[in-house]
Amino acid sequence: MSLHGLTSITLGVPDVEVVSGYYEEFGLTPTGRSPDGRRTFATAEGGDQLTIAEAPHRRLLEIGVGADDPDDLDRIAANLDKLGAEFNRSADELTVRDPHSALRVTVKIAPRIVQPAAKQEPTNGPGRPDRANGRAPAIERTNKVRPRRLGHVVVGSLDQEASQHFFTQGLGFKVTDRVPSLASFLRCSTDHHNLLLQQAPLNFLHHTAWEVDDVDEVGRGASAMIEEHPERHVWGLGRHHIGSNFFWYLKDPAGNFSEYYADLDCILEDQLWDPSVVDGARGIYNWGPPPPPSFIKPDDLAALMTGAHSPR
Ligand SMILES: [Fe+2]
Repeated sequence: MSLHGLTSITLGVPDVEVVSGYYEEFGLTPTGRSPDGRRTFATAEGGDQLTIAEAPHRRLLEIGVGADDPDDLDRIAANLDKLGAEFNRSADELTVRDPHSALRVTVKIAPRIVQPAAKQEPTNGPGRPDRANGRAPAIERTNKVRPRRLGHVVVGSLDQEASQHFFTQGLGFKVTDRVPSLASFLRCSTDHHNLLLQQAPLNFLHHTAWEVDDVDEVGRGASAMIEEHPERHVWGLGRHHIGSNFFWYLKDPAGNFSEYYADLDCILEDQLWDPSVVDGARGIYNWGPPPPPSFIKPDDLAALMTGAHSPR
């Protein structure tokens, strides 16, 4: 059959406990702690999707990709052979590393995440009082925002074109949209993107993204995160042009950005999607406050490049 999604990520950080506290506040549910100090966290609908492990400096250690059956692994193994890439294969998983993004990928036979349809709340519009005589249900929400699932990761690649080739020709990702010489938006599911490869002078994790129900949950989630920690705010609220999603980016204590997002484009039929090449500012966003320079180029990049990165 095919690849069906980004199942999990392993985040490496210097201080596992401090960063774990952040992601618990972000709305993920702690589910375990291994003897080597790794912590695991679940989303509301995707099961265990985040592992936090100790590493000398912040980085994305691994991504997990779900596949339907052994035929998918056979096809990937044959394609990786053609590329001359070395990999490890067992009956139900295959692990390989893209040398350009330094990203380790484990493709594993796994069940698809089944999401119940989120309730569509009525909204008023000009000449369309669909919520007549009532307040917006969103303003009555008091529950903690809990991401439904992991959506995508964005990483720096030393050679974006070569990484795109590796992920498409080797693993079977599809190209959704591109920003020439800067970024490739790739998918391994019906999401607009699950992996965004950015041309960069070093390998680093730019952000992870977590799906919530709607724009109100993006706003409520981020507002709660910055209420007592304004330093966590990075960029938002806005709407991306590529992928169309509402976004708000926050920063974890190790320096990784985490995004609440809603209303991302979905591609159910490949032949009905026209991949586009986007240039200029729209490659970054459609509307919202202008992105701070530290979003484009995170403050710790120079330190990461010289290996002198301090954990706090
Ligand atoms: Fe994103």
